[in-house]
Amino acid sequence: MNQAALHRMLAEGVLKNPKKASPEKLFELRLTTNLGLIKELFTKLYPKELHPKSFEKLIDLLPALFKTRSEELKHQDLLLLKKGAWYQSQKMVGMQLYVDLFNKDLKGVEAKIPYFKKLGINLLHLMPITTRPKGENDGGYAVNSYTAVDKRFGTQKDLLELTAKLRANNIFLMLDFVVNHTSEEYPWAKKALAGSVKYQGYYHMFPDRNIPDAFEATLPEVFPTTSPGNFTYRKEIDRWVMTVFNTYQWDLNYSNPQVFMEMLSNLIAMVNAGVDVVRFDALAFLWKKIGTISQNLPEAHLLIALFRMCLQTVAPGVILLAEAIVAPRDIVKYFGEGNLQGNECEVAYNASLMALLWNSIATKKTLLLYKSLKSIPQKPKETTWINYLRCHDDIGLGFENQHIYEIGWDADMHRRFLLDYYCQVLDWSPATGYVFMHNPKTGDGRITGSCASLAGLEKALSTKNQNAIQQAIDKIIMLHSIILSYGGIPLIYAGDELGTLNDYSYLNDTHKKEDSRWVNRPGHDWNAVKTLSQKEKYPSVIFHALKWLIGLRKKLGVLADSNNTMLHETNNPHVLIYERTGIKDAGVLVLCNFDEHPQVIDGSILNQLCYLKNGAMQDIVSSKTISLNSGLVQLDPYQFFWLMKA
Ligand code: GLC
Repeated sequence: MNQAALHRMLAEGVLKNPKKASPEKLFELRLTTNLGLIKELFTKLYPKELHPKSFEKLIDLLPALFKTRSEELKHQDLLLLKKGAWYQSQKMVGMQLYVDLFNKDLKGVEAKIPYFKKLGINLLHLMPITTRPKGENDGGYAVNSYTAVDKRFGTQKDLLELTAKLRANNIFLMLDFVVNHTSEEYPWAKKALAGSVKYQGYYHMFPDRNIPDAFEATLPEVFPTTSPGNFTYRKEIDRWVMTVFNTYQWDLNYSNPQVFMEMLSNLIAMVNAGVDVVRFDALAFLWKKIGTISQNLPEAHLLIALFRMCLQTVAPGVILLAEAIVAPRDIVKYFGEGNLQGNECEVAYNASLMALLWNSIATKKTLLLYKSLKSIPQKPKETTWINYLRCHDDIGLGFENQHIYEIGWDADMHRRFLLDYYCQVLDWSPATGYVFMHNPKTGDGRITGSCASLAGLEKALSTKNQNAIQQAIDKIIMLHSIILSYGGIPLIYAGDELGTLNDYSYLNDTHKKEDSRWVNRPGHDWNAVKTLSQKEKYPSVIFHALKWLIGLRKKLGVLADSNNTMLHETNNPHVLIYERTGIKDAGVLVLCNFDEHPQVIDGSILNQLCYLKNGAMQDIVSSKTISLNSGLVQLDPYQFFWLMKA
């Protein structure tokens, strides 16, 4: 049982009527429940001998932070607490968007609440909205403040109004907490640059190259083409600053307990605006150690659990999403292992599924997908995934080499093939993508491009090839059907519901043109939305198909995530089958064909799993009863079924 469940159990009687419960008493109960673990985590990271009085400071800080939370949010916390793991519900469907690109500003987003409701969205991830440097700022991931709203998006008041409206409409809000670094213009960075030794200690700073060189021996590069190396020289103070991402993003030094406490205060101040889900940005990088790659270190896990335990104590309705785009076996660790099981992040990006789906589209085979997914250990009980196809970032090819070899392919050649397939090297490939951060030293590269363009729609439209247009649309819908049924929260990237293509306008902006991730950050196509009633247009076809699937998802209780996703093998390498298992008659069997030709599987699998009655199967998506032919189930190119138990 994780700490949240333990607290719920202890508070069960009081939570029966959350409206009458005293938030203060429950805060004390949470503090008592979590204190042992908080102390253990804190003192492991910051031993008393080295940091006397630090723990006492934290103990004073927690009640002070609780006092800063509004009465309304304190009550909302209790309602969510009562619900338990609300984020596992099949009713959750998310959308990620850039406020300015979507509809100008925060007020513009508020005005589109009916659009979200129409599609069935009840979780919004707004990309960074706080102040940032004027020039390059990594799309706002270089933060000048954790709370001050940047003028271009509106005011603090607009944000509070929006969050209140979202709550009233039962829409959850997710914002980023850029926990690993600040911008070089953040007040601490400015003081450090002005010579403050105290604030220089908030970052990793060195007077010469000795330590930076020792780090560089094992540190990989995140942005090798635009920001090679991991340190930046600042002549103002004659110091090397650690800058793992861009030169203007300074890594915070979490070995300093003061940094942890001030960042915790920033986190609480941010969620106090009415945030439900905190996207913990780049959290794999939080702890640095010479001789390692400084990612996924045990201390980073202790630190994340410490953040989580403190957050849960102060604001128990708020949950954490791990943005750990790392190897499949490392991602699940962000849910917590051992006595931290279920005590790190409640949610994590299913980056493995995402990359494997694109791999399956390119290879038209599901072999690597099965191999990889089967090797991922079961996640803890009260956790869930964010399942997604595209986001604002690139697609990394972080598969295990061993798995690629085991299916008889060469790992380097396979990655090369994927880059070539998606990035316009193979003239027969339908995809229009771009290479991101090709590193000639390692041969590594990642892929950018919108869902529709990678699926082939851009090329098919330009060549006016009707068949190819249809195939691209079918791929887009099938891929979405997977994230909508796999187990976890589906997160649609705004624009993908309309099949939006790549946007090349970033090439005209000097601050963006070196970063091809902007090709997949288009403005929202409100013209397409205006003509959604013209059902034959491709944006309408995609929109209405997704809307229909979202509606179905919400009705099927078995699609809630209770770790009930089971993969089933077939003898057909082009097909993916998984079951969402339920009690008694509940259960949904999902079948997908990744090939451009029709494929068949032996109907006996369906029979064994009880999805066949009198030689026919029931498809929930089309509401059709489909009879088998010679005992075979046929799937057309990119066709999928959601079958009901017979
Ligand atoms: C995350 C963001 C990415 C950003 C990086 C550094 O990975 O998704 O866009 O560049 O963090 O903040």
